[in-house]
Amino acid sequence: MKTVIIEKYAVIGNPIEHSKSPLIHGMFAQQVDDAMSYDTLLGDLDAFEDNITTFKQQGGKGLNVTVPFKEQAWELADELSDYAQRAGAVNTLCFRDDGTLYGANTDGVGLLHDLVVNYKLVLEGKRVLLLGAGGASKGVVQPLMEAHIKTLVIANRTPERATQLALDFADLGSIRGGSFNELRDQAPFDLIINATAASLHGIMPPIPESCLFEDSICYDLMYASRPTAFEYWCEDQGAALVLNGLGMLVEQAAASYEIWRGRMPLTTPVLESLQ
Ligand SMILES: NC(=O)c1ccc[n+]([C@@H]2O[C@H](COP(=O)([O-])OP(=O)(O)OC[C@H]3O[C@@H](n4cnc5c(N)ncnc54)[C@H](OP(=O)(O)O)[C@@H]3O)[C@@H](O)[C@H]2O)c1
Repeated sequence: MKTVIIEKYAVIGNPIEHSKSPLIHGMFAQQVDDAMSYDTLLGDLDAFEDNITTFKQQGGKGLNVTVPFKEQAWELADELSDYAQRAGAVNTLCFRDDGTLYGANTDGVGLLHDLVVNYKLVLEGKRVLLLGAGGASKGVVQPLMEAHIKTLVIANRTPERATQLALDFADLGSIRGGSFNELRDQAPFDLIINATAASLHGIMPPIPESCLFEDSICYDLMYASRPTAFEYWCEDQGAALVLNGLGMLVEQAAASYEIWRGRMPLTTPVLESLQ
């Protein structure tokens, strides 16, 4: 009788208990009877590297990495994908057979796939506002610029981080960074992406109403069973379309799965099931 080896994967973060990733990867694996397990792993805030070593020793093949460990994962990787290299943040770790650790960042491709393929939005020539300058923002700047948007403005609670992020990617096109306050001098945006963690605390980033006009599309990277403060605010301002990050979550997971398992799962049935 043939022995089936169940290969071991997980998502590591802190907190982690509400993660939907095990459900999503479970559905991907079911599509093709893939022999893999996928669990949650509560990362130790002071011992992330030890957590990674232990997981590897237990036969772990790959990890998704979430808040607050994406930068630490970047530092630990022996080799990085192009997106991860520039982002300075890793959301996918792959333990290779030769013992090396490969790091990728699939957040940006996940967001772009959701916007362009799932929602069929045209990004070319658009003015885009990105709120936040943390790990998620770092991962989405390059793919957004590669979609030939006209201008990217990054605004953050700590303005210096937004300014630095804009400088880091300045070679890719028109990118400016600054404070929420400076948005008062800006023309409205076609697309506003909330990549702050404010929604986790039920808070709306303090942006002026003038950022929106009737054609604005708003996207909160966070997803929850009920609309976030950002989604409520954008609806109230009369945005044309208000979206949450569930599609991005499924698409970035699919891109991770492809890196680990060598095949791209179908995302539409998974999204439909979660919605
Ligand atoms: N849908 C998906 O697949 C997906 C993927 C990745 C992330 N996300 C979501 O994206 C969000 C950000 O994640 P991250 O990894 O970038 O986190 P992070 O690295 O911790 O960065 C957090 C960002 O939010 C800002 N922030 C925190 N609290 C705020 C508040 N009360 N008001 C205004 N700004 C605030 C921070 O500003 P400072 O710089 O001033 O601290 C920073 O820019 C989270 O909600 C996460 O769940 C979703």
